[in-house]
Amino acid sequence: MGDKANLLADQLKRVQGEIDSVFDAFLPVPQDTRARLVEAMRYAAIGGGKRVRPLLLVSTAELFGVDRTAALRAGCAVEAIHVYSLIHDDLPCMDDDDLRHGKPTVHKVFDEATAVLAGDALHALAFEILADQDTSADPFTRSELMMTLGTASGMKGMAGGQMMDMVADDEGIEYDLHSITRLQQLKTGALLAASVEMGAIMGKVAPEGRAHLRAYSRDIGLAFQIADDLLDVSGDEAKAGKALRKDESQGKQTFVTLMGAEKAREQASALVDQAIGHLASYGEEAETLRALARFVVERDR
Ligand code: IPE
Ligand code: IPE
Ligand code: MG
Ligand code: MG
Ligand code: MG
Repeated sequence: MGDKANLLADQLKRVQGEIDSVFDAFLPVPQDTRARLVEAMRYAAIGGGKRVRPLLLVSTAELFGVDRTAALRAGCAVEAIHVYSLIHDDLPCMDDDDLRHGKPTVHKVFDEATAVLAGDALHALAFEILADQDTSADPFTRSELMMTLGTASGMKGMAGGQMMDMVADDEGIEYDLHSITRLQQLKTGALLAASVEMGAIMGKVAPEGRAHLRAYSRDIGLAFQIADDLLDVSGDEAKAGKALRKDESQGKQTFVTLMGAEKAREQASALVDQAIGHLASYGEEAETLRALARFVVERDR
């Protein structure tokens, strides 16, 4: 267990360095009045995040022998969407947060207009990367990657889930367990699931061959947001690098507000066991995916 945790820590560290380099290469600061935009993109995208989504994508791709450089490009595309979602999530009109990754949020350091545009430009960058032949020489693969990430980012995914989340807090809507599950699956689960799916797409796995991996990512997606909500209640702000104990006061509805911390923790841990169970047909080569599933609920940030 200790060894496995170390193994995962090494893998996360490796992918963190790699994704930083890919972002750095994609984001040279122009010598004109767009500089502020790109500075803000770099501020948000380089350093800080755990890079769980890129590691999911790269580790899945590795199961099928995909070239690591190409997989990292796709991982960077997913991370660009994730970073954009965080910039916008922190805006005063959404969660109104001043701290992210242990430093002031983009709108605090720059301004709200720049934060909106930095999010927009990262969103666009994701698809620019996926459309490039360097990501895949096969146009069908590129198109499937774009379709998958587009679906997971928009109304059927992250943005849809964020809307459900905002509506609950603005209009005092009470969600039941079924609706909370749906909200979390869209808000957080969709991008995590897309990461796994995109790894399989790059590996040329046909849709009918992706069922176990989809079941795995559905379970960890839900567990991931439950862990985030548990951290909000009982985490350490210095470690998390963001303000905690905000969900309840902001009227957010989560598994924790609905069923209490203890039941939510049990639920998350059952989901992780179930996720690992879905990888039974894989051997040693899926060890990183198993360790990632455990990390999702054991993490402290
Ligand atoms: C935080 O995601 C927001 C959620 C979707 C729960 P992460 O915990 O993956 O964020 P970073 O990028 O690692 O900080
Ligand atoms: C954010 O969920 C999910 C996104 C799609 C960005 P939260 O609002 O709970 O994420 P944190 O706690 O601010 O990271
Ligand atoms: Mg939010
Ligand atoms: Mg937030
Ligand atoms: Mg949260």
